[in-house]
Amino acid sequence: MSDSHQSIAPSPPSQFPALDIETNPHDYSDIDSGFGASIARTENSYSMIAGSGIHPYVYENGRRYQVYREGVYMLPNDAQEIERLDHFHRIFLALLDGKLFIAPLGQDGHRVRNVLDIGTGTGTWAIEMAEEFPDAKVMGNDLSKIQPSWAPRNCEFEIDDVESDWTYPENHFDFIHLRSLSGCFQDWDMVIRRCYDHTAPGGYIEFQDYDGNLKSGLGTMPDNAVSRYWGVVSEAASSTGRTFLVASTIEERIKAAGFVDVTVKKEMWPLGPWPKDERLKEIGRLGRTGMRSAVHAFASALLTRVLGWDEMQVQKLCQEATQEVNDGSAQLYVTAYFVCGRKPL
Ligand SMILES: C[S@@+](CC[C@H](N)C(=O)[O-])C[C@H]1O[C@@H](n2cnc3c(N)ncnc32)[C@H](O)[C@@H]1O
Repeated sequence: MSDSHQSIAPSPPSQFPALDIETNPHDYSDIDSGFGASIARTENSYSMIAGSGIHPYVYENGRRYQVYREGVYMLPNDAQEIERLDHFHRIFLALLDGKLFIAPLGQDGHRVRNVLDIGTGTGTWAIEMAEEFPDAKVMGNDLSKIQPSWAPRNCEFEIDDVESDWTYPENHFDFIHLRSLSGCFQDWDMVIRRCYDHTAPGGYIEFQDYDGNLKSGLGTMPDNAVSRYWGVVSEAASSTGRTFLVASTIEERIKAAGFVDVTVKKEMWPLGPWPKDERLKEIGRLGRTGMRSAVHAFASALLTRVLGWDEMQVQKLCQEATQEVNDGSAQLYVTAYFVCGRKPL
């Protein structure tokens, strides 16, 4: 990765409610106090300072944001957001019937030795992957240190910016995973090209996300508070060069980078329990809770920093959008994309 990365080795042992898949085993009690050791800023890098009082976060309109590469990523990293990410983790699992990936890992001579989880967030996917493949080494990177201070021995986290130069070895990873990263990068082709260079021959890339188009089971998307909300949030993101409209473009991008045997799986992600189908109804319950927790997280920095709104305006729109989500009559949904491809031998 970039020369600015920080390896955060796990300390020694110390994201959809109705499914109740399992209780969250993570202990985030140390998160709000920042790192066990804080980060100090140098021109281009950060270093760990044990016991320093420097706080590595900025607070704005009641939300906490990362300082590293400040402003690059517009969503918060506070306790509320950590809960949201783990809730979304549950939705992604529910959409894949409990699986962490769709790639045919470990088949036809493929071995899972090195795994990279780009923009790992809370690290929950990386931790579960490390548990599923105890002989593999799983690396999760992120701009924010919001991963738990413990992890399986074969799972590590580091703070890094994947839009900077990578220092990982080339042809190294047997699996590179990117989930829920729409809106994060200005140049997706560059990130995917790097994934290609750093994937081992025969290894896989997998992208998982929902597309940025809000749809309605009624057919035409009504002109309601949620569509107005999503319209301005999406416009603000696009104007920074980091559009949310990414998922439907990934198949072509990973083919263009050289990946082969590209597989695309699309799933309906309802934002309420309106579908008749029991499985979708269940996902819809999770989706509704997820949407409620996402409304303010997506809007606050984008609308205030980029479009110049004041927080009261943001709150008002968020309340109206949340009411619409609770009401449910618009039968909202998005489409989830799972796209994987293999680097030729
Ligand atoms: C919506 S979260 C998804 C987290 C995780 N992949 C998941 O599915 O739960 C997006 C994450 O990407 C991280 N991120 C954004 N831009 C990044 C960058 N340039 N380099 C590394 N991480 C980045 C953010 O800090 C955030 O934790």
